[in-house]
Amino acid sequence: MLPIKNSIAFVTGANRGLGLAFAKELLRRGASKVYAGVRNPDTVDIPGVVAIRLDVTDPASAAAAARQASDVTLLVNNAGIAQLVPAALDPSHADVARRIFDTNYFGVLHVTQAFAPVLAANGGGAIVNILSDASWLTYPFLAPYAASKSAAWSLTNATRMELRAQGTLVQGVHVGFLDTDMTAGFDVPKTAPATVAGLSLDGVEAGKEEIIADEGTLRTKASLSGADAVYLNPPAIG
Ligand SMILES: NC(=O)c1ccc[n+]([C@@H]2O[C@H](COP(=O)([O-])OP(=O)(O)OC[C@H]3O[C@@H](n4cnc5c(N)ncnc54)[C@H](OP(=O)(O)O)[C@@H]3O)[C@@H](O)[C@H]2O)c1
Repeated sequence: MLPIKNSIAFVTGANRGLGLAFAKELLRRGASKVYAGVRNPDTVDIPGVVAIRLDVTDPASAAAAARQASDVTLLVNNAGIAQLVPAALDPSHADVARRIFDTNYFGVLHVTQAFAPVLAANGGGAIVNILSDASWLTYPFLAPYAASKSAAWSLTNATRMELRAQGTLVQGVHVGFLDTDMTAGFDVPKTAPATVAGLSLDGVEAGKEEIIADEGTLRTKASLSGADAVYLNPPAIG
C-alpha cells in the first residue's frame, strides 16, 4: 500500500504512450516528484517531470539512473517494444525475439535490480510492471512479443515474492490493446492509456498485486483454467 500523494516516482518510457499517461496521472494525484527514464531527455516536455537518460537494455544505464534518482518510492517498468513476425517459425523470429527480450524482459530485470535497493532504503514502496493480455495468449505473428510478456509476467511473480521481505509491493498490470503509437496500425477497440494509469495507481494505493485493466483481458484470465482456455483458440483480431 503506497499513497501516491507525496510519492516519488520513476517511470521508464515516460515521454509518450502509457508512460506519459502515468507521469501525468502521478502529478495530478500529488506525487512530489516524477522522474522520466528515457532514451532521449529532449523528448520530455511535461512541466514538473525530471528527465533522466536511460536505456533499459543497458544495466550500467539502469544503475546510473538509480544513483541519480535515489529518493524513488515508486518504480513503473513501462518501457517496451513490439515487432510482428510473418509467422511463428519464420527465420526472422530468433533475431526479433532477442531484440524484444532485451527490452521487455531483460530491461525490466536491469531496472528492477538497480532500483530494488533504492526502494528498500526508502521504506519499501512499490513496483508496477506493465504486462499484457499477451502474457496469456498469443498468435503466430505476435509470438516473440507475447513470449516476452509471458516471461515478464513470470519475472514479476518471482520479484513479488522476493521483495515482500523488504516491504515492496509488486504489481503486474495486464491489458489488451491500448491507444498508443505501438498499435497505430490496428483498427480495433483500444483502452485509453489514462484509464490504465488510473487503475494501476488506485491499485498501488490499495495494495493490489495484479490489475486486469479491460474486459477482454478479464475474460482471458478467467478462461485459463477451463477446457476452452482462450489461448487454445484466441479470437480473431479486428
Ligand atoms: N499499446 C498496447 O496495445 C499495449 C498493450 C499491452 C501492453 N503494452 C505495454 O505497455 C508499455 C508501453 O507501451 P506503449 O503502448 O506506450 O508503447 P509506445 O507508445 O511505443 O511507447 C514505448 C515507450 O517505451 C520506450 N522505450 C522503448 N525501448 C526503450 C529502451 N530501450 N529504453 C528506454 N525506453 C524505451 C519508448 O521510448 P522512445 O520514445 O525512445 O522510443 C517509449 O517511451 C509497453 O511495455 C508495452 O509492451 C502496450
